[in-house]
Amino acid sequence: MNKELLESIARQLVAPGKGILAADESTGTITKRFAKINVESTEDNRRAYRELLFTTSGIEEFISGVILFDETIKQRANDGHTFVSVLEKKGILPGIKVDLGTEPMSESLLELVTKGLEGLDERLKQYAGFAAKFAKWRAVITIGEGIPTELCIEKNAEQLAQYALLCQQNNIVPIVEPEVLMDGGHTIERCYEVTSQVLKTVFAKLNEAGVYLPGILLKPNMVIAGSESIKSSAEEIARLTLQCLHENVSAQVPGIVFLSGGQSEVEATANLQAINAMKGDTSAQDNTPWVLSFSYGRALQTSVLKTWGGKSENITAAQAEFYKRAKMNGLASKGEYFGE
Ligand code: 13P
Repeated sequence: MNKELLESIARQLVAPGKGILAADESTGTITKRFAKINVESTEDNRRAYRELLFTTSGIEEFISGVILFDETIKQRANDGHTFVSVLEKKGILPGIKVDLGTEPMSESLLELVTKGLEGLDERLKQYAGFAAKFAKWRAVITIGEGIPTELCIEKNAEQLAQYALLCQQNNIVPIVEPEVLMDGGHTIERCYEVTSQVLKTVFAKLNEAGVYLPGILLKPNMVIAGSESIKSSAEEIARLTLQCLHENVSAQVPGIVFLSGGQSEVEATANLQAINAMKGDTSAQDNTPWVLSFSYGRALQTSVLKTWGGKSENITAAQAEFYKRAKMNGLASKGEYFGE
């Protein structure tokens, strides 16, 4: 494990004013996104769509890294260059999703555990050969009646720790993503409780496994009410999110990059802004040790997909949408977003 290298990659990913594009939708997930815009999910359509994203001019001002899917890391742009080299040329770090999705947990069938630890070391070595500098593993926690169970939280945290250690042993920075889902009618307070318990357990397991914390990024959900509940204000989201992070996340972690989790594009930007603005407010004795930025999927892509609609004549307009969302979130990561 080259600690210096891991730390410098992690810091590069949270450089001022920059965040991460999660373009690592599995084939199943991108097929669902394409279905909404009536585009057939062929390998070449998926390739064309990712080319649109990666070749958008100027995104490197706001995007430090892109998380790719297994298929995408091996694909090429129209001009024959690999997507990896297209990104590298812009100074954007290529990353890779290494989990293999989720499955029901045998002891509690309404809850999920993540697949993909088996053979992970070999896959990481293969991805390092494709120049991946960082990786992502998503653990999913569901809020509902009687769930999450302690066992589910423990299992997911243990998997995240094993994954993170394996990444670091291969000099790949692990993004540790424990996602507490927004699905359901729960209150923001319930989300705070569950997220606190999850983060506490994750950091206990990371420490137990000997994961080098300056060489990871945390990708959590914001503390937010369930999607079927009354919306919380950006200020309340910011306050409880910062409180939860301060209580549970080690100061050694260089950056926290939120997932958007089903928030609308503008909500995800406004909430990131509120978090950074509030963090700044208390800066008389600013004890917020981490950069707070984004690793958004849907919140960077929803209007891009809609504008593109699978038609090559819409590429320029779709790229303008992508540039705009990247810029708005880049500003929010510095507390400098004041509306569209
Ligand atoms: P969303 O921002 O759409 O939640 O996606 C981020 C991600 O990578 C989920 O694993």
